[in-house]
Amino acid sequence: MPRVLITDGLSAAGLQILRDTPGIEPVVKDGLTPEQVREALADVDGIIVRSATKLTPAILEGQKRVKVIVRAGVGVDNIDLPAATREGIIVMNTPAGNTISTAEHALALMLALSRNIAPAAAAMKAGKWDRKKFTGTQLAGKTLGVVGLGRIGLAVARRAVVLEMNVVGYDPFFSAERAAEYGIELVRDVEELVPRVDYLTVHTPLTPETENLFDAARLSRMKKGVRIINCARGGIINEDALADAVESGHVGGAALDVFVEEPPAADHKLRKLDNVLLTPHLGASTDEAQESVGVEAAELITAYLIRNEIRAAVNTAPISGTEMSEMRLYLDLGYRLGRLLAQLGRSNPVRRARLQYRGDVAHKKTKLVTGAFAAGLLADAVEQVNLINAEMMAQERGIELVETTSSEAGDFATMVSATVESGDGACTSASGTLFGHEYVRLVRLDGFHLDSYLDGLMLVYRHRDVPGLIGYIGTTLGKHGVNIANMALGREKATPGGDSVAILNIDSAPSAEALAEIGKHPEVTGLQLVKLPPRGAALPGVMARPE
Ligand code: NAD
Ligand code: MLT
Repeated sequence: MPRVLITDGLSAAGLQILRDTPGIEPVVKDGLTPEQVREALADVDGIIVRSATKLTPAILEGQKRVKVIVRAGVGVDNIDLPAATREGIIVMNTPAGNTISTAEHALALMLALSRNIAPAAAAMKAGKWDRKKFTGTQLAGKTLGVVGLGRIGLAVARRAVVLEMNVVGYDPFFSAERAAEYGIELVRDVEELVPRVDYLTVHTPLTPETENLFDAARLSRMKKGVRIINCARGGIINEDALADAVESGHVGGAALDVFVEEPPAADHKLRKLDNVLLTPHLGASTDEAQESVGVEAAELITAYLIRNEIRAAVNTAPISGTEMSEMRLYLDLGYRLGRLLAQLGRSNPVRRARLQYRGDVAHKKTKLVTGAFAAGLLADAVEQVNLINAEMMAQERGIELVETTSSEAGDFATMVSATVESGDGACTSASGTLFGHEYVRLVRLDGFHLDSYLDGLMLVYRHRDVPGLIGYIGTTLGKHGVNIANMALGREKATPGGDSVAILNIDSAPSAEALAEIGKHPEVTGLQLVKLPPRGAALPGVMARPE
């Protein structure tokens, strides 16, 4: 039964979904050390985390059972994505559930900064009544700069427009037309926004590009007295530079919900400054947001573990349960072609694989089929390779994967062709198709047309098409106790005597002696035993679900 570990808590409604889903066993463990998380992961199929649990390479490396990580929230920066992908683990998040709550928190901080709410409240608690000291500023008529106009940034901007602020925004993936619809003035770059704004709020992810986006130099170009809010990720605004700018009075106030290190050190400079308002990463901490992300996280993980449905994944393409069942045979075909070609070209390291999708398959999610092909290609060389990590594994080994699609059907209504090229330029190719709703078939091998099963033990031999050879091979295998289940023959020319290829599906592996006896026949020019999974076997990764 799939087990789901929850390490940072989950809303009651989310937990109930897990408990009510037949076949899922939730395991709630709070306050684990990194070592305990690593140990606990070894016994579960999925994990739901918020931001406290850090899934580092050291924790993820070598995990064999866990197949999915769901982040109940937006930011996946506490999960090492390359490490998860390398281990073949899907990572999903719940991007929309806490948008409004976080936007409201940013606005709350902006209002609180403007009206000195926190120090005024603290003074009242201390028995004081100081009205002059806490005189504030009005938001209406002021200019707010919003960097990052995604879900949260846009929600903040729209609300600020209603508060009669002038909103100037920057986001490289937002169009000026769309901005105008919302009453936002879009600028071309951050620099253009910097000198104009009275308030700044950032809503980007933390990336190499956004880290220290506001450093000392940029802060110094902002208006004197500017108020700055960060409810996105610590480090987008350089903490030291911000502290200095507040201290010098250049920045009039700062409100931060997120920090480079969480929690920040007890003696962190920003904790000590007046005009700095800090909250402990509370953006998404509302009943509504937690219920929403908890429910979504529970639904995502059960949909995946029960129906192989991939939604909101950040390291692979999304795929619905229906699509997954439609794609199953294609993925199987891609995987088997990969395994076949890896074995046929074994002596030469593969440098490039070209995948061509023709006919019906061209309308499917071919990237996943390419992933399945790559998983097959590397299956005998790399431990734990699956659909999720195969492309990355191929890339790391210098194998280029090239995909082309054509909706025009060729000889078959649907066909997947793969050619692998080795460093010395040698090529081996194979094409497969689907027969009905159940069968994958090999229909071309290195230009030879044939019709072969693509499963189990396959004896592939190249030969000259002369009388008596099939009889010789059949007799030799029979003499060594090997039963032939099926035979497919492809020949170069319509007339006998030319180069041909044959594939025998056999019920047991021939001995070395039997193979030597076949190989020494003067008309046999090549002989190879290929081992594929039996028909219907589960694919590694998303297809291999525990019962
Ligand atoms: P989103 O993906 O919807 O939006 C991010 C936007 O940033 C995108 O539109 C993107 O184009 C833009 N962007 C990326 N790089 C940029 C750059 N260099 N300059 C300008 N814009 C850039 O994400 P979201 O859901 O709006 O979340 C935004 C941030 O808020 C994330 O970092 C998320 O982790 C954080 N967050 C914090 C809390 C909290 O509790 N404080 C809660 C939720 C989300
Ligand atoms: C997020 O990225 O969603 C936030 O950090 C909210 C959280 O999980 O606390």
